Amino acid sequence: MSTVKFFYGENIPLEMHKARIVQKINLQPIERRFEAIKEAGYNTFLLKNTDIFMDMLTDSGVNAMSDKQQAAMLEADDSYAGSVTFTKLEKKIKEVFGKEYFLPAHQGRACENIISQVYVKPGTIVPMNYHFTTSKAHVVLNGGTVEEIFTDDALKINSDVRFKGNMDIGKLRDLIETNGADKIAFVRLEAGTNLIGGQPHSLENMQEIRKVCDEYGVMLVFDASLLADNLYFIKTREEQCKDMSIRDITRKLADLADIIYFSARKLGCARGGGICTNSKEAYLKMRELITLYEGFLTYGGMSVREMEAMVVGLDETMDEHMINQGPQFIEYMVNELVERGVPVVTPAGGLGCHINAMEFVDHIPQEEYPAGALAAAFYLVSGVRGMERGTLSEQRDENGNEILSHMELLRLAMPRRVYSLSHVKYAVDRITWLYENRHLIGGLKFVDEPKVLRFFFGKLESTTDWETKLVEKFRADFGDSL
Ligand code: F0G
Repeated sequence: MSTVKFFYGENIPLEMHKARIVQKINLQPIERRFEAIKEAGYNTFLLKNTDIFMDMLTDSGVNAMSDKQQAAMLEADDSYAGSVTFTKLEKKIKEVFGKEYFLPAHQGRACENIISQVYVKPGTIVPMNYHFTTSKAHVVLNGGTVEEIFTDDALKINSDVRFKGNMDIGKLRDLIETNGADKIAFVRLEAGTNLIGGQPHSLENMQEIRKVCDEYGVMLVFDASLLADNLYFIKTREEQCKDMSIRDITRKLADLADIIYFSARKLGCARGGGICTNSKEAYLKMRELITLYEGFLTYGGMSVREMEAMVVGLDETMDEHMINQGPQFIEYMVNELVERGVPVVTPAGGLGCHINAMEFVDHIPQEEYPAGALAAAFYLVSGVRGMERGTLSEQRDENGNEILSHMELLRLAMPRRVYSLSHVKYAVDRITWLYENRHLIGGLKFVDEPKVLRFFFGKLESTTDWETKLVEKFRADFGDSL
């Protein structure tokens, strides 16, 4: 897709696939959407699919599979132990990542549970380029702390730095020097840094991290869940990699990590996960926990059908024309919004388009969850479901005080190969309208607040009746349009 240039008119992303199965979606009238968001406690996680037009909550487990993945699923060898399907997957992992040992798990956070239980001891530290919700929760649960050692540009909403997901090498070294290498459980590097807008790290950065890890004898754990986008960015943005194949870049990255884990709900467009390593010692330590929490060693909680789809999906991830659709659609959306003056994270990252709620609704204090309010308002005016990535996604400290997030983002994830450019244009149209009417949006407060990962199922209400005014304005401007 990246290699196709248009002769007349605009240069738009061109898909290298066609759709042969479609799913009908509904766009409910705004009055029903108002009811639906109230029923959901203003939490987009709690909306029902029948009330959703475009589902941009996540790209996890919702990407379109290829015909070859679907075909492979029919071949799955369903047995508790010794399944042929597992052998195929193990072989593919070895081929793609060059790692000898593979432990299957039901999804990414299951891998995090196992790695943290084995390596995080009370009082230890896990340095990261940035935390992810579940990865931090597992470190903390095991008595460890997370130290984020991102670069100065990571949290700048607008920047021309191409690898905002890089780790700050100086800070990493200082952290190890100050605390002592024995206090470091492991260093965790996350590809396509999720919570700062799907921003990539470079191969060069990972090479430098490896050097520091070698120097101090610390293990490097690589979260490859969002690797597909990161590979595309390394290929297109990093000078040393422009003539390398995606397969070669993958091997170079993989060779630098002691342990790789991933959510196959993202990587490989299937549902599952796994951990791989060349260390027999690490493998043996983690193996026991797989059988305890996940299932037998040849399925780890996954359906064999999904494992077959993963084998093909991992192979297809090595094809630039398969992995570029996400980043290119996201870039298109980001550029359109920038042109209309809507505040978004730049440069465009992977995963999705990230709207800067801190600026979009700068009249809403962080204690009233600006990104959460924006997610609810955007659903109301469009039927598009996004996800809050800000203070609501944090957890209160031990004294019950809010931990205010560095960023307040509305994430509009781009499920791969699922939506068309006209869908994207619709979303852009409605966000632009909302931006022009942003003063009508108000804050949220909790009515039911869970202690752990509260954003998943907490319920809120609006601080005033701001949604009624928004609905009235919508009707005034759009007439009887859905
Ligand atoms: N690591 C990263 C970078 C992730 O983005 C996720 C999931 C996980 C680990 C956990 O994997 O969901 O399979 O247990 N991210 C999803 C999202 C939930 O919507 O961004 P999981």
